[in-house]
Amino acid sequence: MEDLRIGVIGLGLRTSIALAADRPGKGAVVAALCDLDPAVLKRQSAKFPSAGFLTRDHRELLDRPDIDAVIVNTPDDTHEALAIDALRAGKTVYLEKPMAITIDGCDAILRTARESGTRLYVGHNMRHMGVVRLMRDIIAKGVIGEPKTVWVRHFVGYGTEFYYKDWHADRTRTTGLLLQKATHDIDVVHWLAGGYTTRVNALGDLLLHGDLPRRAPGTPRPDDWLMENDWPPTARKDLNPVVDVEDVSVMNMRLDNGVIAAYQQCHFTPDYVRNYTVIGSEGRLENFGDGPGATVKVWNTGPTQYREDCDIAYKVPDAQGTHGGADVQIMSEFVRFAREGGVTDTSPVAARMSVAAGYLATRSLRDGGRPYDVPPLDADLAAYFDRGQQEAA
Ligand SMILES: NC(=O)c1ccc[n+]([C@@H]2O[C@H](COP(=O)([O-])OP(=O)(O)OC[C@H]3O[C@@H](n4cnc5c(N)ncnc54)[C@H](O)[C@@H]3O)[C@@H](O)[C@H]2O)c1
Repeated sequence: MEDLRIGVIGLGLRTSIALAADRPGKGAVVAALCDLDPAVLKRQSAKFPSAGFLTRDHRELLDRPDIDAVIVNTPDDTHEALAIDALRAGKTVYLEKPMAITIDGCDAILRTARESGTRLYVGHNMRHMGVVRLMRDIIAKGVIGEPKTVWVRHFVGYGTEFYYKDWHADRTRTTGLLLQKATHDIDVVHWLAGGYTTRVNALGDLLLHGDLPRRAPGTPRPDDWLMENDWPPTARKDLNPVVDVEDVSVMNMRLDNGVIAAYQQCHFTPDYVRNYTVIGSEGRLENFGDGPGATVKVWNTGPTQYREDCDIAYKVPDAQGTHGGADVQIMSEFVRFAREGGVTDTSPVAARMSVAAGYLATRSLRDGGRPYDVPPLDADLAAYFDRGQQEAA
């Protein structure tokens, strides 16, 4: 079988996902590259020996008949326009999360996928992380009964480096970090709980990064911008010229199946880790660490006082590669989907529902914590995706 020929649009930090795709002779090859920045294009092209076509204009890449699929790997505010162009050009799309920075943007992408009949895949790689799959398996086996409530604490160590030194810090480019960053976890909450958020509210603020020194407008990120892990966080500097996204946020969700969930995010903690608790009708689980080798503990006897030991301890399996092995796994699912279509563990509809919850939670936290109802996706459009991106027979 010939390799799927992939073009990559956007070659910044997330080039890791394109590297996971580049497996010449083993199913897929990165054959074309695009980045607006010629220096980035030149530097990153050295990592892709089979990429014979380089361009700064994504339309030139999309015009090429020898490209089967594209990875859209650009900042969030560009996803909508680039994904729509690629779908109209008939290239199967791997679109990085978040799908878009508004609900309308997501719906426009989903409508275009249907109108063009082109396959769309959204890169929610956490669905391929060992810890998430383990928690989902434990729930599916009934070990904690029926899930009733999910609580997520997200400790974003390195928050300054990754989110406050470039476009992420500017709400016009992202909406906010409760959408940009939390869509991962909102999607996982939906997947673990088996439902979608229908109502949200949130509180949040810019508690620390608003006071740190910023770069002058027009000054690029310094070359060593990711290396400056100064401690304490108040010693950090060289922030993006615009900083207006909250660095602490707490969000509540009611799901369509009655589950109540909560998500909390902080960008100046000393450590980077996600901590999930799922309480079901017959027990609870909690993860300790979130990478390969981490533990998910289950307590399903009791009641007792605090118990550090548990009834069952599960180990997250070993895995190689970025994001705890998830990037290799999601790319292999994408390549299969690009060739054959069919059901995948990720879902464009779920991707839209996580953006919708994050978008309205962000509106809520900027509106005194007022609750908002999350609009469902148009039922006919949702049915198209539920049929595996096919029209009804
Ligand atoms: N799934 C994950 O775990 C994960 C992790 C990191 C980032 N991401 C997502 O990946 C995307 C990229 O993030 P990043 O950190 O690599 O950003 P980045 O700023 O490091 O890189 C973006 C690149 O896109 C280029 N670009 C911008 N507009 C373009 C256009 N119209 N055409 C061609 N190139 C263009 C820029 O020049 C830049 O080189 C974001 O949507 C982010 O949310 C996902």
